[in-house]
Amino acid sequence: MQKCLRAALGGCLLVAAVPALAYEAGDVIVRVGAATVNPREDSEQIVLPTSPSPTVLPGVGVDGDTQLGLGGAYLLTPSLGIELLAATPFEHDVKVQGLGIEGGSVSHLPPTLSLQWYPRGAAAGWQPYLGIGINYTVFFDEDVSSELKGALQATLGASRADLALENSVGLAGQVGVDIPLNDNLMLNAAVWYIDIDTEAAIRTDVGTVKFDLDIDPWVYSLGLAWRF
Ligand code: NI
Repeated sequence: MQKCLRAALGGCLLVAAVPALAYEAGDVIVRVGAATVNPREDSEQIVLPTSPSPTVLPGVGVDGDTQLGLGGAYLLTPSLGIELLAATPFEHDVKVQGLGIEGGSVSHLPPTLSLQWYPRGAAAGWQPYLGIGINYTVFFDEDVSSELKGALQATLGASRADLALENSVGLAGQVGVDIPLNDNLMLNAAVWYIDIDTEAAIRTDVGTVKFDLDIDPWVYSLGLAWRF
Protein backbone atom coordinates (compact mmCIF):
# COMPACT_ATOMS: atom_id res chain seq x y z
CA MET A 1 0.00 0.00 0.00
CA GLN A 2 2.71 2.46 0.96
CA LYS A 3 4.84 1.52 -2.02
CA CYS A 4 1.82 2.09 -4.29
CA LEU A 5 1.23 5.52 -2.81
CA ARG A 6 4.86 6.44 -3.01
CA ALA A 7 5.08 5.36 -6.63
CA ALA A 8 1.81 6.98 -7.58
CA LEU A 9 2.45 10.31 -5.93
CA GLY A 10 6.21 10.51 -6.17
CA GLY A 11 6.27 11.86 -2.65
CA CYS A 12 5.78 10.86 0.88
CA LEU A 13 3.17 13.26 2.20
CA LEU A 14 0.38 10.74 2.08
CA VAL A 15 2.68 7.99 3.25
CA ALA A 16 3.53 10.12 6.27
CA ALA A 17 -0.14 10.28 7.14
CA VAL A 18 -0.41 6.49 7.33
CA PRO A 19 2.77 5.49 9.15
CA ALA A 20 3.65 2.00 10.24
CA LEU A 21 4.85 2.29 13.80
CA ALA A 22 4.47 -0.90 15.72
CA TYR A 23 6.95 -0.86 18.60
CA GLU A 24 9.48 -3.65 18.89
CA ALA A 25 11.57 -5.08 21.69
CA GLY A 26 14.95 -3.35 21.62
CA ASP A 27 13.60 -0.02 20.34
CA VAL A 28 15.07 3.07 21.95
CA ILE A 29 12.80 6.12 22.11
CA VAL A 30 14.34 9.51 22.89
CA ARG A 31 11.91 12.25 23.90
CA VAL A 32 12.87 15.94 24.03
CA GLY A 33 10.51 18.75 24.93
CA ALA A 34 9.50 21.65 27.11
CA ALA A 35 8.73 20.36 30.60
CA THR A 36 6.79 22.48 33.07
CA VAL A 37 6.86 21.70 36.79
CA ASN A 38 3.72 23.02 38.44
CA PRO A 39 3.96 22.52 42.23
CA ARG A 40 0.77 21.92 44.20
CA GLU A 41 2.65 22.51 47.40
CA ASP A 42 1.45 21.84 50.91
CA SER A 43 3.59 23.63 53.45
CA GLU A 44 3.74 23.12 57.17
CA GLN A 45 3.47 26.29 59.26
CA ILE A 46 6.68 28.15 59.97
CA VAL A 47 7.11 28.92 63.67
CA LEU A 48 9.57 31.73 64.34
CA PRO A 49 10.82 31.68 67.96
CA THR A 50 10.05 35.33 68.68
CA SER A 51 9.49 36.50 72.24
CA PRO A 52 7.36 36.77 74.25
CA SER A 53 5.25 34.52 71.95
CA PRO A 54 6.25 32.70 68.73
CA THR A 55 5.28 34.11 65.33
CA VAL A 56 3.39 31.53 63.26
CA LEU A 57 3.43 31.94 59.48
CA PRO A 58 1.15 29.83 57.23
CA GLY A 59 4.08 28.45 55.22
CA VAL A 60 5.63 28.98 51.79
CA GLY A 61 4.33 28.96 48.22
CA VAL A 62 6.41 27.55 45.37
CA ASP A 63 6.14 28.92 41.79
CA GLY A 64 6.34 26.79 38.65
CA ASP A 65 9.15 26.62 36.09
CA THR A 66 9.69 25.32 32.53
CA GLN A 67 12.89 23.65 31.38
CA LEU A 68 14.15 21.26 28.72
CA GLY A 69 13.00 17.71 29.47
CA LEU A 70 14.89 14.71 28.13
CA GLY A 71 13.64 11.13 28.33
CA GLY A 72 15.14 7.89 27.10
CA ALA A 73 13.05 4.73 26.94
CA TYR A 74 14.14 1.19 26.15
CA LEU A 75 11.50 -1.35 25.10
CA LEU A 76 11.85 -4.74 26.75
CA THR A 77 8.88 -6.03 24.72
CA PRO A 78 6.54 -4.21 22.27
CA SER A 79 4.38 -3.23 25.24
CA LEU A 80 6.82 -2.84 28.16
CA GLY A 81 9.51 -0.20 28.47
CA ILE A 82 11.88 1.37 30.98
CA GLU A 83 12.25 5.14 30.85
CA LEU A 84 14.70 7.52 32.51
CA LEU A 85 13.49 11.11 32.66
CA ALA A 86 16.01 13.91 33.03
CA ALA A 87 15.89 17.68 32.58
CA THR A 88 17.87 20.87 32.82
CA PRO A 89 17.60 22.21 36.42
CA PHE A 90 14.29 23.69 37.46
CA GLU A 91 14.39 26.91 39.49
CA HIS A 92 11.44 27.88 41.65
CA ASP A 93 10.71 31.15 43.43
CA VAL A 94 9.53 30.68 47.00
CA LYS A 95 7.09 33.07 48.64
CA VAL A 96 6.60 33.40 52.39
CA GLN A 97 2.89 33.38 53.11
CA GLY A 98 1.77 35.60 55.95
CA LEU A 99 4.61 38.04 55.34
CA GLY A 100 3.75 38.40 51.64
CA ILE A 101 7.40 38.58 50.62
CA GLU A 102 9.76 36.68 48.36
CA GLY A 103 11.54 34.07 50.45
CA GLY A 104 14.15 33.22 47.85
CA SER A 105 14.58 30.46 45.32
CA VAL A 106 15.52 26.79 45.04
CA SER A 107 16.79 24.70 42.15
CA HIS A 108 16.27 20.98 41.72
CA LEU A 109 16.83 18.06 39.40
CA PRO A 110 14.11 15.38 39.46
CA PRO A 111 15.44 12.26 37.68
CA THR A 112 12.70 9.63 37.44
CA LEU A 113 13.00 5.95 36.47
CA SER A 114 9.72 4.41 35.29
CA LEU A 115 8.32 1.11 34.08
CA GLN A 116 6.01 1.85 31.15
CA TRP A 117 3.11 -0.04 29.61
CA TYR A 118 2.24 0.52 25.95
CA PRO A 119 -1.18 -1.15 25.49
CA ARG A 120 -1.02 -0.69 21.68
CA GLY A 121 2.71 -1.32 21.38
CA ALA A 122 2.36 -4.14 18.87
CA ALA A 123 0.02 -2.11 16.63
CA ALA A 124 0.71 0.80 14.26
CA GLY A 125 -0.46 4.34 14.97
CA TRP A 126 -0.75 6.35 18.16
CA GLN A 127 1.11 4.89 21.13
CA PRO A 128 -0.41 5.85 24.45
CA TYR A 129 1.44 4.72 27.57
CA LEU A 130 1.19 4.57 31.33
CA GLY A 131 4.15 4.51 33.66
CA ILE A 132 4.95 4.14 37.32
CA GLY A 133 8.32 4.81 38.81
CA ILE A 134 10.66 6.22 41.39
CA ASN A 135 11.68 9.87 41.57
CA TYR A 136 14.81 11.18 43.23
CA THR A 137 14.82 14.95 43.61
CA VAL A 138 18.06 16.75 44.40
CA PHE A 139 17.75 20.32 45.69
CA PHE A 140 20.58 22.81 45.33
CA ASP A 141 21.28 26.57 45.03
CA GLU A 142 18.83 27.40 47.80
CA ASP A 143 18.87 31.18 48.15
CA VAL A 144 17.31 33.37 50.84
CA SER A 145 16.02 36.73 49.55
CA SER A 146 17.16 40.02 51.05
CA GLU A 147 13.51 40.64 52.07
CA LEU A 148 13.42 37.45 54.15
CA LYS A 149 16.86 38.18 55.62
CA GLY A 150 15.53 41.61 56.62
CA ALA A 151 12.40 40.07 58.18
CA LEU A 152 14.47 37.53 60.11
CA GLN A 153 16.73 40.29 61.35
CA ALA A 154 13.73 42.39 62.45
CA THR A 155 11.91 39.52 64.20
CA LEU A 156 14.75 37.33 65.49
CA GLY A 157 17.78 39.54 65.40
CA ALA A 158 19.40 37.15 62.92
CA SER A 159 22.35 38.66 61.10
CA ARG A 160 22.55 35.89 58.49
CA ALA A 161 20.29 33.16 57.11
CA ASP A 162 20.43 30.32 54.63
CA LEU A 163 17.98 27.73 53.39
CA ALA A 164 18.44 24.00 52.88
CA LEU A 165 15.98 21.44 51.47
CA GLU A 166 16.44 17.71 52.00
CA ASN A 167 16.57 15.53 48.91
CA SER A 168 13.43 13.49 48.27
CA VAL A 169 12.66 9.94 47.12
CA GLY A 170 9.06 9.28 46.08
CA LEU A 171 6.69 7.58 43.67
CA ALA A 172 5.90 9.01 40.25
CA GLY A 173 3.05 8.19 37.87
CA GLN A 174 2.83 9.19 34.22
CA VAL A 175 0.50 9.18 31.21
CA GLY A 176 1.80 9.95 27.74
CA VAL A 177 1.31 9.48 24.03
CA ASP A 178 3.58 9.27 20.98
CA ILE A 179 1.81 10.47 17.82
CA PRO A 180 3.66 9.30 14.70
CA LEU A 181 4.74 11.81 12.06
CA ASN A 182 6.64 9.17 10.13
CA ASP A 183 8.21 5.80 10.91
CA ASN A 184 10.72 7.19 13.38
CA LEU A 185 9.62 10.70 14.38
CA MET A 186 6.72 11.39 16.72
CA LEU A 187 5.04 14.16 18.61
CA ASN A 188 5.07 13.43 22.32
CA ALA A 189 2.90 14.71 25.13
CA ALA A 190 3.18 13.47 28.69
CA VAL A 191 2.01 14.28 32.19
CA TRP A 192 3.60 13.13 35.46
CA TYR A 193 2.51 13.35 39.03
CA ILE A 194 5.53 13.20 41.31
CA ASP A 195 5.48 12.81 45.08
CA ILE A 196 8.23 15.17 46.29
CA ASP A 197 8.23 15.63 50.07
CA THR A 198 11.07 17.50 51.71
CA GLU A 199 12.03 19.17 54.95
CA ALA A 200 13.12 22.79 54.68
CA ALA A 201 15.49 24.36 57.19
CA ILE A 202 16.06 28.10 57.56
CA ARG A 203 19.36 28.29 59.40
CA THR A 204 20.34 31.51 61.10
CA ASP A 205 23.01 32.53 63.59
CA VAL A 206 20.34 32.57 66.33
CA GLY A 207 18.80 29.18 65.58
CA THR A 208 17.27 26.94 62.94
CA VAL A 209 13.60 26.82 61.91
CA LYS A 210 12.43 23.64 60.17
CA PHE A 211 9.18 22.86 58.38
CA ASP A 212 7.86 20.08 56.15
CA LEU A 213 7.18 21.01 52.54
CA ASP A 214 5.35 18.75 50.07
CA ILE A 215 5.94 20.00 46.53
CA ASP A 216 4.04 17.16 44.79
CA PRO A 217 4.05 18.70 41.30
CA TRP A 218 2.22 17.96 38.10
CA VAL A 219 4.80 17.95 35.32
CA TYR A 220 3.66 18.60 31.73
CA SER A 221 5.85 17.93 28.74
CA LEU A 222 5.33 18.58 25.02
CA GLY A 223 7.92 17.83 22.38
CA LEU A 224 9.30 15.41 19.84
CA ALA A 225 10.31 11.78 20.09
CA TRP A 226 12.62 9.70 17.93
CA ARG A 227 12.61 5.95 17.67
CA PHE A 228 15.90 4.18 17.01
NI1 NI B 1 3.70 14.23 48.95
